Amino acid sequence: MSTIPSHQLNAGMIGMGMIFDETYAPLFRTAKDGIYDPSFGVCSINFSAVATRTGSRAEAFRANHSSDFPDFTSYTEPDAAGQLVSADPDFVCVATPDDRHFAGAKAALEAGKHVLIEKPSVLSLQELDELVALAEKNKVLAKVVYHKLLDPDHKKLQTLVADDELSHVNNGYCTLLEPKSISGGQFAEWIQGRNPGTYVAVHYIKLIDFTFGGKLKRVTCTGQRGLVGPADGNTWDSTQLRLIYEYESPNGGAPREAAFDIHTSWVTPDNFPGYVEQEVQFRFDNGVWNGHSRRRGVECTIEEKTPLSAKISINNHYNGSFLEPWQERSQRGYGIEAIERFVREVAEVEFGGVGGREERLDRMAGLSYNSLAADRQVVAAVQSMEALLEHHAAGHPDAVVKVNDSAGGLALYQPGNPNPEVLYPGTV
Ligand SMILES: NC(=O)c1ccc[n+]([C@@H]2O[C@H](COP(=O)([O-])OP(=O)(O)OC[C@H]3O[C@@H](n4cnc5c(N)ncnc54)[C@H](O)[C@@H]3O)[C@@H](O)[C@H]2O)c1
Repeated sequence: MSTIPSHQLNAGMIGMGMIFDETYAPLFRTAKDGIYDPSFGVCSINFSAVATRTGSRAEAFRANHSSDFPDFTSYTEPDAAGQLVSADPDFVCVATPDDRHFAGAKAALEAGKHVLIEKPSVLSLQELDELVALAEKNKVLAKVVYHKLLDPDHKKLQTLVADDELSHVNNGYCTLLEPKSISGGQFAEWIQGRNPGTYVAVHYIKLIDFTFGGKLKRVTCTGQRGLVGPADGNTWDSTQLRLIYEYESPNGGAPREAAFDIHTSWVTPDNFPGYVEQEVQFRFDNGVWNGHSRRRGVECTIEEKTPLSAKISINNHYNGSFLEPWQERSQRGYGIEAIERFVREVAEVEFGGVGGREERLDRMAGLSYNSLAADRQVVAAVQSMEALLEHHAAGHPDAVVKVNDSAGGLALYQPGNPNPEVLYPGTV
């Protein structure tokens, strides 16, 4: 009789905010009893430690979830991340505000831990290069969460494009509007100098980059201020980003350009009927894809609850709590699936039966949907957007960043000035 191999992986978290509650905690709750794959057997996930600034969220979480997670360690400043990575985690998830991803991820990779970073991975290609080199040197995975790629609607889009049912994208738009409670409440502590584009446009930058391939050519961006911060300051209420990509012509002629406009905000009224407004339209040589996350399903009104403490249009695909027909409670959706998939990739590298560890590492590291090494054009767009907004706030709007220009990989041109500022000298 054969026995199923069993293993354990210790999980460490850096940051324990909203996204931890929504996606990591539900996964750790179910995966502590083990995930199964024929290649590695059963692997239980032990949420072993968390690093935060003050530890207050960690202690509140412990008090509320003591039966599921009785004995994780909480590390606090100074050097919370340094203490965490020197302890026992096999992989580390970085879910701090986006301008703090790099430091936590670097500490974990230097300590030889596999790493998963929340989107956007990092804010510059210089940082990306450093993390990718560290992961290669220490032979671990460095990955990023873009869970919208796992949304069933986007999987269908990817399938139709891969099968050339929808052929040759021409242009498109995407919009994602977050409620005011995000900018005025949840993120108020760290929002100074930040913008909603880096926070959420990045989901669509990745969707476009991953689904359609192509070469990023130019980036422009503008936006509005005055609600979250002063009208002449550097904190943005909303942004409008334009990306120009170049694609091979399907008939072998000259390459063709496609423009994508991505509009984001975090000042939508809190009584908006959905959590967030998300809409995309992509036009192809032979078709049009229209997606609207709120209009794909349910509208539900409950007296004295909707639209504030409960929402009218519910996204049951991202992360929903359910009573299953067999009377068990569950929490599932693509937000959780994205984290679980990373955990499976780590288990495959460490315990998978097929090939040696190095071969398995190469195979998992080569998955472009979540690998840091494949995030180059997305980070290039984010780095360009950050620089364009910074210039705009300093009184110099209307600049453009050219990608793989003769002057450098990312070259920012001000109107009327032929000499660019080089944001990144290497090739994107
Ligand atoms: N995948 C998604 O759709 C999605 C959704 C929301 C947030 N996010 C991403 O997750 C990250 C966190 O967002 P959130 O909504 O959970 O934020 P949050 O403000 O709710 O929580 C941030 C957490 O980071 C901790 N922290 C801050 N600085 C730290 C440091 N230097 N070291 C250790 N911990 C530190 C805070 O104590 C807090 O626990 C962001 O990068 C955001 O873009 C992703």
